[in-house]
Amino acid sequence: MPNDHINSDNNPSQNYNTTDMMQVDTLVGASSPASTENSIHHATVRAADVFALPPAEVCGKCAVVDGTAYRILKSLIDPKELRSKGHTVRLFCGVSAKDDNRVALKFSRARVGAKICDEDPFSEPQIMKDLGAWHGSACSDLTKSSDYVVTMHGWNTDVDEKKEWRYCTLVLDYCNAGDLFSFISESRGLNVSAWSPNNNNVEVAMAVVGLQMLRSAHFLHSKGYAHLDISLENVLVDEEPVGSVEGLSSPRARFGDFGMAHTFDEKTGKTSIGNRRVGKPNYSSPELINANGGEFNAPLADVYAIGVSLFIMLTGYNPYGKASRTDMAFRQVTTKGSKGVSRVAKAYGHEASNEVCDLIGRMLAAEKDRIGVNEAIKHPFFTKCFGSLDNEELSDTSPSGFIMATGLGA
Ligand SMILES: Nc1ncnc2c1ncn2[C@@H]1O[C@H](COP(=O)(O)OP(=O)(O)OP(=O)(O)O)[C@@H](O)[C@H]1O
Ligand SMILES: [Mg+2]
Repeated sequence: MPNDHINSDNNPSQNYNTTDMMQVDTLVGASSPASTENSIHHATVRAADVFALPPAEVCGKCAVVDGTAYRILKSLIDPKELRSKGHTVRLFCGVSAKDDNRVALKFSRARVGAKICDEDPFSEPQIMKDLGAWHGSACSDLTKSSDYVVTMHGWNTDVDEKKEWRYCTLVLDYCNAGDLFSFISESRGLNVSAWSPNNNNVEVAMAVVGLQMLRSAHFLHSKGYAHLDISLENVLVDEEPVGSVEGLSSPRARFGDFGMAHTFDEKTGKTSIGNRRVGKPNYSSPELINANGGEFNAPLADVYAIGVSLFIMLTGYNPYGKASRTDMAFRQVTTKGSKGVSRVAKAYGHEASNEVCDLIGRMLAAEKDRIGVNEAIKHPFFTKCFGSLDNEELSDTSPSGFIMATGLGA
């Protein structure tokens, strides 16, 4: 599947135009019920303005994406993080003038002509289309994809007048509980009451979240993509009871942020990302960190990142300081299996079950020994927490530890 940049040919709203801009007030007023907050007229911002202004000044204004006006309500980026990431990405919660629904607006930018060596914001809409996660596509997969990845409702690309920056704006489902990282407290791990209110058991809560992450990864891989930037910050949560996991009612946790997602060889799982830096260092598998432009198994790199996420949910801490053999905790969790994970968890004051330590140990093992997604979903940790699992959709359990997912490339 192509990992190409979005280009103007398949983008329905390449640039904001004057008509769009002039119609905003009409759009905002006309398409929402009278007397709602949207019937007030609002100034319009282009993506360039969003980066030029402090987030507080952007709020209250309107953005037009794909011909729909959105009133911007609040920034979703912690002010403390703005200095580090604010020059490339801004996130806001907004409300659609068309149907009054809440949305998230993701504004990204890159310098015109810059070599993309990290995240490529312009590939994200195409990837979401390939995943069947674009609301506008006549895609029968949408209902299914929305269980696993956020839905994209529209997008724009734009270039500023001086042709210095290009911009990409995505309109996404708004996940009202934010990201999974906000459910973690240091030294206590995952907030149990949010995920497993009736059990008061951190491992059951972890199983509820972990299974959703693994199923989301399975979905992504079945579409021919690996995420390559799985982290607690990139798992988005809807808090109202939106469903159940193996009979337990639970918030929905699914993947967002596909700027680093990449295709892979469907037979071997291998991919190469050249000199692009992918993933956050504390979630990246050693073979990904050391790839140096060479090949690595992309779906198994996602498994590793989910393993790190599970350890953080268990203890509230990263499993190790640095992915290096000189780091003792790294050696323990990546080479000593269940025992190593148990030892390091204990050092953080957590007694963990054999099952959860075994699962995490297998997920953090060397690539050649690492458990695949299908196998991980069927691991005794989940069957212990939930009893039997409803895994009908997984028809392929590949023996090699590689996760050849069903329907790959279909
Ligand atoms: N659809 C959404 N609903 C609610 N919050 C969201 C949504 N999308 C993103 N966020 C919030 O904004 C943060 C940043 O979004 P995103 O991960 O897409 O951007 P990013 O710049 O690629 O971030 P990073 O570089 O940290 O991965 C998320 O971690 C989450 O807290
Ligand atoms: Mg992110």
